[in-house]
Amino acid sequence: MTVSVVVPAAGSGTRLGEAVPKAFVDLGGGTTILEHCVDGILRAGVADTVVVVVPVHLIDEAKRLVPAATVVAGGSHRSESVRAGIAGTDSDIVLVHDAARPFTPPDVFHRVVDAVRHGHLAVVPGLPVADTLKEVDPASAGHDTGEAVIRTVDRERLRAIQTPQGFTRAALMQAHADASGLATDDAGLAERAGIPVHVVAGDPLAMKITTPWDLRIARDVVAETSP
Ligand code: C5P
Repeated sequence: MTVSVVVPAAGSGTRLGEAVPKAFVDLGGGTTILEHCVDGILRAGVADTVVVVVPVHLIDEAKRLVPAATVVAGGSHRSESVRAGIAGTDSDIVLVHDAARPFTPPDVFHRVVDAVRHGHLAVVPGLPVADTLKEVDPASAGHDTGEAVIRTVDRERLRAIQTPQGFTRAALMQAHADASGLATDDAGLAERAGIPVHVVAGDPLAMKITTPWDLRIARDVVAETSP
């Protein structure tokens, strides 16, 4: 069974506060988040094809940075970008992997692909949650002045979900069949479509770069692991 990896990298990355979209931010030595991400996918050795989804004005730049990948234009929401990427693949198994998780170790890719090969229709990597989690009432006050706690949730039953998320092609197409479907991850769309989702072990190195603090950590990781 062939495997494609779709890399949504068309976000603006406004929470990062950098001048360029997140995937095009330099992690040190002139190597962008996108290049680290695609390099990690190729090193994992699971992909027959890699499809990178970027803002339309950065297509030529992405082709130059990651010549091994097919590059297509994204949409205004992550789910739209993923749909554009799926259209560029015809593999039996499709992994969707955020560009913003450039250090995801090969083992995580293998665990996800193996679980799909063993018959799971939708597979996500996840980690136990370290913090105590409380549900709050956001309407109770502004964020600055505090919020009322509704309850403490049982963290033993929770997982922080990462990518790559793996699917049979049919399951991913079904999850995205409603073109208006928007979700922060593809498994969320699969759940809504009634597709069972299976969790395998994630890895702290599959962290997502979202905030300036994450970027600082990511640059430290690159500095420590560069020859
Ligand atoms: O915004 P967030 O960090 O959750 O985005 C996750 C991933 O989805 C990022 O790699 C981002 O580039 C991608 N994305 C996209 N198209 C969008 C929005 C986000 O490809 N319109």
